[in-house]
Amino acid sequence: MGVSRIPLIAGNWKMNLDHLQAIATVQKLGWTLQEGRHSYGADGAEVAVFPPFTDLRSVQTLVSADRLDIRYGAQDLSAHDSGAYTGEVSGAFLKALECRYVIVGHSERRQYHGETDEVCAQKVAAALRHRLVPVLCVGETAEDLETHGAAAVPVSQLRAVLETLQGEPELVVAYEPVWAIGSGQAATSEQAQAVAGALRAVIRELLGDGVAEATRILYGGSVKSTNIAGFMREPDIDGALVGGASLDATEFAAIARFQKHVGV
Ligand code: PGA
Repeated sequence: MGVSRIPLIAGNWKMNLDHLQAIATVQKLGWTLQEGRHSYGADGAEVAVFPPFTDLRSVQTLVSADRLDIRYGAQDLSAHDSGAYTGEVSGAFLKALECRYVIVGHSERRQYHGETDEVCAQKVAAALRHRLVPVLCVGETAEDLETHGAAAVPVSQLRAVLETLQGEPELVVAYEPVWAIGSGQAATSEQAQAVAGALRAVIRELLGDGVAEATRILYGGSVKSTNIAGFMREPDIDGALVGGASLDATEFAAIARFQKHVGV
């Protein structure tokens, strides 16, 4: 965890929890985080959830009515702003629901929806146009790991997107080894740090020191309350993108309170 970066604990719900379940889950998350604050605090960590599109309006209403200290975003967005794109959701609509973040290029989108680096770059550009912070996911498959080693594929995926950007964009990068997602087999914190360090070096090379220091790099893949502390001790890991374990408000809140386990 870098000293100057605010940690981000992000919950990717994937295709789980309808809008009623979302309300119950976010309510419980809000209470649990507030309770914890008195005794040990989730202080310092930003908590964000990424529900399905159909939940976002309900989450917005709840977060604003109860003034919850929880951010939210979508799991995807269209590369286009408006027009004849049946089934697509514009970044403008997400911004109108006060989303702060949007995930781009999750490995499930790359794998099942054919999203290439080029599409990811267009989506990152769309997010930035609408003042959403893209959470760009990169990661290698088990096969890539064997053929190319750990950092090669994520580095090339990141490079392909960053080469299209200019200035000092705010973005978050999530390193998610495909073999670790949903497998119960997380990367070791040393493995994750090695790749996160390589990713930060690419950010530095292409966008400069300021962006490299400000950009949060998350680890994702089988993160739980029992392994989060190890990741957060690493200098280039600034948070986590959590799938399965984010569906349970108690477990997710325990992850967000990693500082209790890290002792920082
Ligand atoms: P997992 O998923 O935590 O269930 O492994 C992570 C993700 O896909 O973002």
